[in-house]
Amino acid sequence: MEWKPDRTSEIPLYKQIANYLESRILNGEFPPGSRLPSERYLANQWKVNRSTVNNAFEELRSAGLVHRIVEHGTEVNRDIPGSGTKQFPNWDMFVKQGYYSPNNPLNQKIYQFIRTDEQIINFAIGELSSDLQPIKLMQDINSSIELCNDLGYEHIQGNTTLRETISEHMKTYRNIESTPSSILITSGAQQAIHLIIRGLLKPGDAVAIEDPSYAYSLPIFHSEGLNTHLLPVQNGGIDPDQIVALHKKHRLKMLFLNPTYQNPTGATLDLEKRCRILEICSKFGIAIVEDDPYSITGYDGASIDSMKSMDKDGFVLYISSLTKIIASGLRIGWILGPQTVINHLADVKQQFDFSHPSLPQLIAAKLLSSKHFDEHIMRLREGLKIKRNLTVRSLNNELNGIISFFVPKGGIHLWCKLNDEEIDENLLFKEALKNGVVFAPGSTLGSDHKYIRFTYGRVETKSIPEGIRRFAQSLKSLIPTC
Ligand SMILES: Cc1ncc(COP(=O)(O)O)c(C=O)c1O
Repeated sequence: MEWKPDRTSEIPLYKQIANYLESRILNGEFPPGSRLPSERYLANQWKVNRSTVNNAFEELRSAGLVHRIVEHGTEVNRDIPGSGTKQFPNWDMFVKQGYYSPNNPLNQKIYQFIRTDEQIINFAIGELSSDLQPIKLMQDINSSIELCNDLGYEHIQGNTTLRETISEHMKTYRNIESTPSSILITSGAQQAIHLIIRGLLKPGDAVAIEDPSYAYSLPIFHSEGLNTHLLPVQNGGIDPDQIVALHKKHRLKMLFLNPTYQNPTGATLDLEKRCRILEICSKFGIAIVEDDPYSITGYDGASIDSMKSMDKDGFVLYISSLTKIIASGLRIGWILGPQTVINHLADVKQQFDFSHPSLPQLIAAKLLSSKHFDEHIMRLREGLKIKRNLTVRSLNNELNGIISFFVPKGGIHLWCKLNDEEIDENLLFKEALKNGVVFAPGSTLGSDHKYIRFTYGRVETKSIPEGIRRFAQSLKSLIPTC
């Protein structure tokens, strides 16, 4: 458990905080020259007054451990007792120079708040609420697993039984033909995207992504020096002709699509457009990444054919995961693609982490082949539909005419347009946090500031009306005419 001051202790809170920070300074977690987290951050994390943290910092200062710089923060002294004449590595510089760009600051803030405030109603994170996860089934499966004599590294493409099960699953649920040998198990769809970018592209390559899109929220595209070009998403998905225009200008190498119940818009690419995109890509030799974590959630059962099921020439790298249908914490995703690509990406993944952990793979294999899996999917679809309806009803009751949206037929997100274009996204975000609700601001998904995403699939059903009420209160407080 993360450290917190003990409110029952006789030692004053500021003193406990000073002692805790001192131990972290002395064991090198905050080395000489590094900066301590801000007063505001720590006060929020530990639910104490800023003056309490300030007193703790003062205590550290008088002990000669830190110095304070106006408008800069609190820095650990370079000459703390015992450090003598040592030269210290400049960790801040390493952090700034490192290969990966940091996440969007608003996304970082979201994770910070949901970790420290358990009462907050969380419409921000793209995962299932606990009432939609098959917890009992997972517990039963977990306790039935017999570990064999060997828990060595798994096959570099992933556990063989799991790949066989996924191959069956894709046939049953997505009408996709495959063999286990062309499947690579990954740590969620996120790692699959990461492996494709690192393993198949190089700096300067031109790729197209949807706008708005989940892909936009991944700084990896920019860390890798890719040139991303945007394809606006409408109700029926992107316009295929724009791919042609972009290709003529930039020579696209790859197209990243989330064509079914897209994150964040909930839009589904029309069948006709799917065929046209396959035709265009085969004419120009553009590879397609079909990111498909949501198609099974279709509330009315059957969903449109995946692009992979229509691809007979190996243009499509198909990605999916169990995050949106079982649980995000399992970290099971996969890529299906041409054998040479899978062999190479398995080799790259082996360089990252040797192999995927065995236990989640064993659980996932049993889950997907369980006789209760179908029932779970039926319950999931019903549960998501109830949440969607409740979210739509609550928004219509609270904010009719103030926001507009398209009602999705699957997935877990609702994409809303703020009709008042003058609303400041940052102010709205702050106001909502103050009122105990958090959502994903449009800018984190590549859109301008007029949009927000509500992930209703993340919220316990009973909390949805209250969450929307809190949001409505926050939004109305920023509209002068309300
Ligand atoms: C379209 C899309 N792709 C990939 C992911 C990554 O999910 P995971 O890595 O948990 O499978 C998400 C998560 O929100 C998503 O919406």
